[in-house]
Amino acid sequence: MFAMFAMVLLFLQGAGAVVPAVSELDPSLYVGRWYQISADALVADTFELKAECVTADYALASDPTYGTIIKLVNSETINGKLFNITGYAYIANESEPAELSVKFDEYVPSFATGSYWVILLGPVVNNQYQYSVVSDSTGLSLFVLARDVADYAENYASTVDAFLADNGYADFFAPIATVQDDCTYAPTLVQAFTPRASAFSSE
Ligand SMILES: *[C@@H]1O[C@H](CO)[C@@H](O)[C@H](O)[C@H]1NC(C)=O
Ligand SMILES: *[C@@H]1O[C@H](CO)[C@@H](O)[C@H](O)[C@H]1NC(C)=O
Repeated sequence: MFAMFAMVLLFLQGAGAVVPAVSELDPSLYVGRWYQISADALVADTFELKAECVTADYALASDPTYGTIIKLVNSETINGKLFNITGYAYIANESEPAELSVKFDEYVPSFATGSYWVILLGPVVNNQYQYSVVSDSTGLSLFVLARDVADYAENYASTVDAFLADNGYADFFAPIATVQDDCTYAPTLVQAFTPRASAFSSE
């Protein structure tokens, strides 16, 4: 399964242009709950197959190796059942704050580090970026995240859609809408962890 995924990645390498990451990202404005608006086929038809109600929760933590890290919990429902995957992201090079590296705790080899590049960021409202468009160092994956699904559709979707079209996220790489109707979401990290904030300190 992973071998096949790797082969698909190799085949697609070079298929799309790599979109550069934005030059500034403040992790403290990036944390909190995100709802996935859409993802490209490489995401939606592989590791998110049949996934609905996809969310990402990010929270700041400190780590002896990387300094400030972002703990993450990605949640989704498949046939109404909630699943999650946990991990963390860190800024490998302070000069490139929107080029994060990601490690997951399970499902992928623990030594594997993925890249998470923020290629477009929405405005800050109430100390939170309102949307984020995420790809990676190969330009192949695509995730569109927003703080509020309805607000995104009303205020930001046309800007993001134009950006995606201009940057080659069309055809095979076109965004596929993520189902966000009739969802029972996982508790946000804040709800789940506030009473035990020490859960974020590193082991
Ligand atoms: C992740 O899922 C497990 C059960 O599969 C649950 O115990 C845990 O609370 C979930 N974590 C979060 C942060 O939602
Ligand atoms: C960090 O990023 C800067 C700017 O892109 C680059 O010049 C530098 O080589 C990078 N440093 C490392 C260690 O990769």
